[in-house]
Amino acid sequence: MEIGIAKETKALEKRVAATPETVKKFISLGADVKIEKDAGIQSNILDSEYEKAGAKIISDPMELLSNSDIVLKVNTICNGGKGSDNIELYKKNTILIGFLKPLQDKQNIKLISQKGINAFAVELIPRISRAQSMDALSSQSNLAGYKAVINAANMLSKATPMMITAAGTIAPAKILIIGAGVAGLQAIATAKRLGAVVSAFDVRSATKEQVESLGGKFIEVDESPSNNDSHEDSRGYAKTMSASYKSRQREVLYNTIIKQNIVITTALIPGKEAPELITSNMVNDMLQGSIIIDLAAEAGGNCKLTKLDKALVVNGITIMGPSNLPSEVAQDASSLYAKNLFNFVSLMIQDGNINLDFNDEIIKMSCVTYKSKIFDYKT
Ligand code: NAI
Repeated sequence: MEIGIAKETKALEKRVAATPETVKKFISLGADVKIEKDAGIQSNILDSEYEKAGAKIISDPMELLSNSDIVLKVNTICNGGKGSDNIELYKKNTILIGFLKPLQDKQNIKLISQKGINAFAVELIPRISRAQSMDALSSQSNLAGYKAVINAANMLSKATPMMITAAGTIAPAKILIIGAGVAGLQAIATAKRLGAVVSAFDVRSATKEQVESLGGKFIEVDESPSNNDSHEDSRGYAKTMSASYKSRQREVLYNTIIKQNIVITTALIPGKEAPELITSNMVNDMLQGSIIIDLAAEAGGNCKLTKLDKALVVNGITIMGPSNLPSEVAQDASSLYAKNLFNFVSLMIQDGNINLDFNDEIIKMSCVTYKSKIFDYKT
C-alpha cells in the first residue's frame, strides 16, 4: 500500500498534508510513503527530514500520483493545473483525501468521479466526539481566528492594550467578533491576550457563556434567552434568522460596530451563503482607521463590501477578505492538519491493507465519490 503526499500548487497555499511525525506513523501501519520533492518546504519541513522519517522523495508528480493508493492533499484538485492539480496523473481507484469543497465545487467533484477516484472530503467529517481528532475544519479555523486578530492588530495604527505613560493614558483597542464558533472563540481569546476590550455576537445563545468565560462581553439582540434557544438546530448549528430578528440584529450591530477599532467576522451556517451582517452604512460610520477582517469571504462575506483576497480602503476603513489564513501559519496548520489526516486514514487501514468500512459513519459521511459514483453527501 502506497501513500503519496502531493505538493500543493494553488496560489497562496503553503501547507502540506503530512509531517515527518505522521510519515513514521503511516509506516508503522504498514504503508510505503512517498512525498513530492519540496512538498513541505513552505511549512519549514525539509525533504531530508521526511527521508529520515522513512519516506521516499519523488521529483516527478506523475510517478508519485500514478502509483499511489492513497493521495493526501490540502486543497482539492484544481483541474487543468500542473502536478497534483492535473487529474490525468491520478490512477483509477486512488483514494484522494483533502479539502475538496464538495458543496461549492460540484463540477470538480463530477470530474473526480468520472476519473474513478474515490474521494473523501475532510469538510464532511461529522463533528462527533469520536471524530474530534480528525476535525480539520476546526483545527484550521482555530488558527484562522488567531491570525485574523494578529493581522488586524498589526495593521491598526493604535496599540491594543491600555498603556499608562507619563505623557498620558492610551485607551485599549475595541475588538468585536461576530460569530462565536471555532474561529470566533479563538479570535476572542487572542484579542483578550493582546489586551483589547472584546465583545462578541452570535445568534446561538449557547455561545454567551463561552464568550464570557474568555473575558468577552456578549452582545444581546433584545430577545429572551428562551427565544434565542430556537436559533440553534438539532446538530447545534445556527438556523437562518427571521426578517424581524435580522432587523433588530442590524440595529444592535450598528450601535456596536461604530465604536470598534477592529471587527472580525466569522458568521456562517455550513453549506449556505454567508449572512450579510455589516452594511455599507455601518462601514461609513465606523471610526477612521478601523479594520474589518471577513473570514467568511469565500462564502460571499459577512460584510457587503468584502472582496475575496483583496484589501479595500473605504472612507478610511480597511476591509480584508482573506481566503487562506491558516496558510499564513503554515508550520502549525500543517502539523495539525497532518495529525487530523493520520487519524482519519487510520480508519481505512487494517493489517497493512486498505479496508473501507462504509458502516462507519465517519467514512460514510465524508465520502463524496466511490467507484465512479457521486455520493449523496450533505453537511
Ligand atoms: P463555526 O460553524 O464553528 O462558527 C460559525 C459561527 O457563526 C457559529 O457559532 C454560528 O452560530 C454563527 N452564526 C451563523 N449565522 C450567524 C448570524 N447570522 N449572526 C451571527 N452569528 C452567526 O465555523 P468556524 O469553523 O468558526 O468558521 C467560521 C468561518 O470562517 C467560516 O466561514 C469558515 O469558512 C471561515 N474560515 C475562513 C478561513 C480563512 O482563512 N478565511 C479559514 C478557516 C475558516
